[in-house]
Amino acid sequence: MNRILNARLRGRPGLFSIAWADGRITAVQPQADTLPLPPGADDVLDAGGHLVIPPFVEPHIHLDAALTAGEPNWNLSGTLFEGIERWAERKALVTPADTKDRAHRSIRMLAEHGIQHVRSHVDVTEPGLGTLQAMLEVREEARDLVDLQIVAFPQEGIESFANGRALMSEAVAMGADVVGGIPHFENTRDQGVSSLHFLMDLAERHGRLVDVHCDETDDPNSRFLEVLAEIARVKGMGAQVTASHTTAMGSYDNAYCFKLFRLLKQAGLNFISCPTESIHLQGRFDSYPKRRGLTRVPELDRAGLNVCFAQDSIVDPWYPLGNGNILRILDAGLHICHMLGYDDLQRALDFVTDHGARALALGERYGIEVGRPANLLLLSADSDYDLLRTQGQALVSVRHGRVIMRRRVGDVLWG
Ligand code: FE2
Repeated sequence: MNRILNARLRGRPGLFSIAWADGRITAVQPQADTLPLPPGADDVLDAGGHLVIPPFVEPHIHLDAALTAGEPNWNLSGTLFEGIERWAERKALVTPADTKDRAHRSIRMLAEHGIQHVRSHVDVTEPGLGTLQAMLEVREEARDLVDLQIVAFPQEGIESFANGRALMSEAVAMGADVVGGIPHFENTRDQGVSSLHFLMDLAERHGRLVDVHCDETDDPNSRFLEVLAEIARVKGMGAQVTASHTTAMGSYDNAYCFKLFRLLKQAGLNFISCPTESIHLQGRFDSYPKRRGLTRVPELDRAGLNVCFAQDSIVDPWYPLGNGNILRILDAGLHICHMLGYDDLQRALDFVTDHGARALALGERYGIEVGRPANLLLLSADSDYDLLRTQGQALVSVRHGRVIMRRRVGDVLWG
């Protein structure tokens, strides 16, 4: 296939034809009217007036823990803390071959739902870094399906874990694309602050992106976001820095947030919310009323900051569900964040496409424009609103000009 007819593009009126050659888009042309499919043309796809968009982006997932729920024991309480206990049991059984097998199966689930760009955190609080090495191999082996960014993620801390700094430096030397962190998990506030200075310096020295698990708690006194934002502002690195989760912001008071937002706008960093994971894991110390445990997604968005949604988990000790479908996350996120207003529904896909691409700094590697990679999806609806309303899906996924996935949607048979 080298051409799509009768495509609808987001934010542009009318129908379009899109052509490509040698893996790159060569033309995006408006059509005056609906065009018939040329007879016998195997290389042309009729979009039928449905949306054609660049691929979905999964900006925050843990592929090294995916598909382990219930092995050997299930997390019966559903809490973060029992999840850590269950993961410790499973982690003792992890081998590089096991990591690679689960990661590849999970990537297939993501690709099956139209995702072609993925950022995965990988636990580097492991002497020897065998899991990281396995995931770096997966990054190369999975190139036909996805572009994979690997985050050096210090699950058990940088300052409060033995040789934490050395492991982070080693992970970057081995080829991790992104430097991670977990300041709210360090033993003390001072360690949390110094971990942020360390990881930002490390990223700056090596020209890496940054993605920090930041304030993933309901504790309103967890305020590492302001530290991360200030370091990013001073270094001028905001566009390369992402704050994931920031769920404590859902518990900050408005007076503090007013001041915080001024800094966030100056710093210009990116935000990732994992709504299904956070609604499941946060609020666990509340009786009623229970907090939702999410960051302030609409407020960040209205302030002009870049926010996107992510899955975080697929069937792991912290979250037992998930099938790779980011549209399920978008649906849940819009509900939980009070974002079902008409204006939000009109542009809902921004949160799983362009905003994710910006967080991953994809630049000119993303988007339906001449000269960019021929990576695109045909969806089952003609607008963001209708895709959500009908719980639609990606029907065709084209990567570097080649069809990598087609979905046949079943018919409804009455009576
Ligand atoms: Fe995470």
